Amino acid sequence: MNYEVVLPAAGSGKRMGAGQNKLFLSLGGKPILIRTLEVFQNDDNCTGIWLAVKAEERDYIQHLLEEYGITKVKGLPNGGEERQHSVYACIKEMEQVDIVLVHDAARPFITKPIISRLVTEAYEKGAVIAGVKAKDTMKKVNNGVIVETVDRESLWMIQTPQAFRFELLKRAEEEAEAIGFLGTDEAMLVERLNHQVYIVESTYENVKITTKEDLVFGEAILRHRNELGG
Ligand code: CTP
Ligand code: MG
Repeated sequence: MNYEVVLPAAGSGKRMGAGQNKLFLSLGGKPILIRTLEVFQNDDNCTGIWLAVKAEERDYIQHLLEEYGITKVKGLPNGGEERQHSVYACIKEMEQVDIVLVHDAARPFITKPIISRLVTEAYEKGAVIAGVKAKDTMKKVNNGVIVETVDRESLWMIQTPQAFRFELLKRAEEEAEAIGFLGTDEAMLVERLNHQVYIVESTYENVKITTKEDLVFGEAILRHRNELGG
């Protein structure tokens, strides 16, 4: 089933501390951004890619797209101050499609089977996001003191992709923009509309490359995949 994908790529990578957009850093000999793009480039069900970029990085990114043969990018609008603004910049430029995915450009280990499950369920249910079960004991802490141990069974760590019927996400983004509501993910904007958001169990490999340690995890994941012939 077909879909288009929005990839916010207009961050600064402050927590990585590399002095440049972390998406340009090399992971196993290829920029992180390219690794993420290749997953969608190679998925026949993906009919278009929208990339939110920093204005001053557009030329370089276009050069990378050519160098690595990424041909599905339909638009590269300017990103905004916050990730949500970057996503909205893409949504505003898109033509009507059935299903849109939003996926962090900084999550290069997403796989086609998970994408495919999200898209299928988004057609049925309208809103569905990737996540994994919390592994550690979770406690609520206030000023260094435990307030409560939270039941782990009901806790999920949320990732991207997040998949939606296009008109639902568009309406959620428009309403959030109108009242200045800032969410930490797309699902929050849809939850505001009292629309149910479902979860698809993803994998712990689908990490977001955020800090220096994540580059080490990333290299290990690549090694592991090559060893398995994947
Ligand atoms: N992003 C974006 N526009 C912003 C902020 C973030 O498009 N204003 C993108 C990033 O490029 C990244 C994704 O959103 O692909 C997830 O954000 P995050 O991991 O926080 O990346 P950065 O914001 O770049 O990193 P940091 O928060 O450490 O500065
Ligand atoms: Mg950020």
